Amino acid sequence: MIQEKIIDLLNSMTLDEKIGQLIQITPQLYYDDTSSTAETGPIEKLGISEEHLYNIGSILNCGGAEKVKKVQDIFLSKNRLHIPLLFMADVINGFKTIFQIPLLQGCSWDLNLIQKCAEISAKEAAFSGIQVNFSPMVDLVRDSRWGRVLESTGGEDPYLGSIYAKTIVETYKSCGIASCVKHFAAYGASQSGRDYNTVDMSEREFREYYLPSYKSAIEANCDLVMTAFNILNGIPCSSNKYLMYDILRNELKFNGVVISDYSAIKETINHGYAKDSKDAALKSLNATVDIDMMSNVYYNNLKNLAFQDTNIEKLIDNAVLRVLTLKNNLGLFENPYGQLDIEKEKSYVMSSENLEIARKTTANTLVLLENKNNILPLNNNSKIALIGPYAENKGISGIWSTIFYKEIEKTITLKEGIEKKVNVDNLQIARGCHILKTSEFNNLLSSIGESCITIQNDDEMERQEFEKAINVAKNSDIIILAIGEHYKQSGEGGSRSTIELPDIQLNLLNELYKLGKPIVAVLFSGRPLAVKNFVDKVSALLWVGFPGIQGGNSIADVLFGDVNPCGKLNMSFPQSTGQCPIYYNHYSTGRPHTYNTRYASRFLDIPTYSYYPFGYGLSYSNFEYSNLVLSSDIITENSTIDLSINVKNNSNVPGYEVVQLYIQDLVGSVVRPVKELKGFKKVFFNAFEEKIISFSINNDMLKFYNHNLKFVSEAGDFKVFVGSNSRDNLWKVFSKID
Ligand code: GLC
Repeated sequence: MIQEKIIDLLNSMTLDEKIGQLIQITPQLYYDDTSSTAETGPIEKLGISEEHLYNIGSILNCGGAEKVKKVQDIFLSKNRLHIPLLFMADVINGFKTIFQIPLLQGCSWDLNLIQKCAEISAKEAAFSGIQVNFSPMVDLVRDSRWGRVLESTGGEDPYLGSIYAKTIVETYKSCGIASCVKHFAAYGASQSGRDYNTVDMSEREFREYYLPSYKSAIEANCDLVMTAFNILNGIPCSSNKYLMYDILRNELKFNGVVISDYSAIKETINHGYAKDSKDAALKSLNATVDIDMMSNVYYNNLKNLAFQDTNIEKLIDNAVLRVLTLKNNLGLFENPYGQLDIEKEKSYVMSSENLEIARKTTANTLVLLENKNNILPLNNNSKIALIGPYAENKGISGIWSTIFYKEIEKTITLKEGIEKKVNVDNLQIARGCHILKTSEFNNLLSSIGESCITIQNDDEMERQEFEKAINVAKNSDIIILAIGEHYKQSGEGGSRSTIELPDIQLNLLNELYKLGKPIVAVLFSGRPLAVKNFVDKVSALLWVGFPGIQGGNSIADVLFGDVNPCGKLNMSFPQSTGQCPIYYNHYSTGRPHTYNTRYASRFLDIPTYSYYPFGYGLSYSNFEYSNLVLSSDIITENSTIDLSINVKNNSNVPGYEVVQLYIQDLVGSVVRPVKELKGFKKVFFNAFEEKIISFSINNDMLKFYNHNLKFVSEAGDFKVFVGSNSRDNLWKVFSKID
């Protein structure tokens, strides 16, 4: 429909109909199948009347071609102007073909891989009736205590986060599904890693680290922006006019739809920023937040506000026009079902091709953290004991997978993956323990509002399981120990005060260690965990995140060498919980930890650096770096420096290496990080192959927000580092002259 027709439509709408477009609810009110929708926020009665139910603009987390078509048909038959409903959903790491969690997808450093995961997720969702994906989540994350680090593809780096954001937004667009970048803004900086907590930072810190990935998504023409739950510098994002209007709309030129997070407008009252529901409505509308997700603030107040002030109806019209324009851009006025296609849904969703791609992409994001004496890859003749709570666990797809993926029985467990690699007579399995003690698990369940479990003879059962595992391990050559956190311990509302492994698993590991057999640990988690207190007891450590429905196959492919691991961390592994937040691109401080004195910036009881650094990941190949050369040691505003480095695969195992380029500005008008990622290349090497890898350093790489918030480069000396991660590098010095 041409834009003029949209404006005519707007002008033909009643005030009730306009306000309806600015409300989003969960779909239960349109059918009674509550089992099919996972709530992602507080559930409350919104009090929306039957009369207004068919004025609503959009619903969330309703998926499935037949279901969506049914809801849309009923809705259109009852909506006076036949304005179609918009179907939005959280397709975070897949619709039904569930991939690695985004944090581990981001360890691929492979834009083609990211694009492939996004494409399949988008197409499965689109054929199933979804028109907007609440993705990508591009929050910069530095604190592993925060449960939502699992959703961040870019992890702790703004450069990586920005290129991933662009790739995902463009992929969704190419698949005809609208993207919604979130959570605007700086949600990942919630103090103490506690979800929904206070965020307070300088404008410079915000622009230097937290804003870039959202900016990149907006420059890639994302369709919606979702507000964050937190305050930013004293004002809730969902009513923060400086953030939502001055920065987002005026500075970044975003003219799409802004949607609040789940009940976030109403929560501005809890924040103590809005004095009541009416005040909350006014402040968020003034901040140009268009859609009120799952609260009744707009529904209960905008009409009266409009009667009191004609300017309010103008603000309402602007918001409604943005929503109608989004629907028009998606072609919904011509075809209210979007790309919904019952036949394509049947043939494409969870197709064998998609599952095979999930298996391959997941395998290429797993991160090998330890491989002592090259114990991996395993040969398939060994007598293997597969031990641990994740040996046969199907809960390995992450908490966001549960909204649409209900066929949990289709998830490939680690046991099922390994069975395909070995002679099953050589494979013994024993769980040994649960992920948590029953009391701990019940604490978890009750803390998230779920009913507790009871296990008869719990202690005796636990002892027997433990003993069986030790006995099984005694009769093996090698132990594969599948450990980690419960998937419900991460994700939204999943902040943890400690990120060490639970004692029940550590006790099992310690007993297994006494047997003197090599232990290959496979670590399942939605976040970097503190592994220091057990990693000396294992021969190998493979971090698999929550690997998705092909997880068992992907992990087995790596363990047995069918895939050479090439994942590189996008988030540092801390020494301990006490070290959080920790990130590689930190400032030096006046007393760096290298000072050999008590009076340095460090902890008394642990090293200051991370346990595994950003960019780190091992391979079955052996890459050696040499001969770092610069074409010049001087750069100007308009010149470049060509850099080359020799990288050799000093092994007979072909594989990928991610060659990483970092730069340090040694002196600035504000202090500058000890290093910053400015480029990388993922390169394949044949056995014993050597390549010369080149980069070009330009002035843009040297820019930062100075003390006047100008984005500039400054004359002075720089270091350029190249290596396999952010710690182990070759480096050279160059200077920028004006
Ligand atoms: C949740 C999340 C957000 C999600 C939304 C809809 O509370 O914060 O990421 O997209 O609600 O489910």
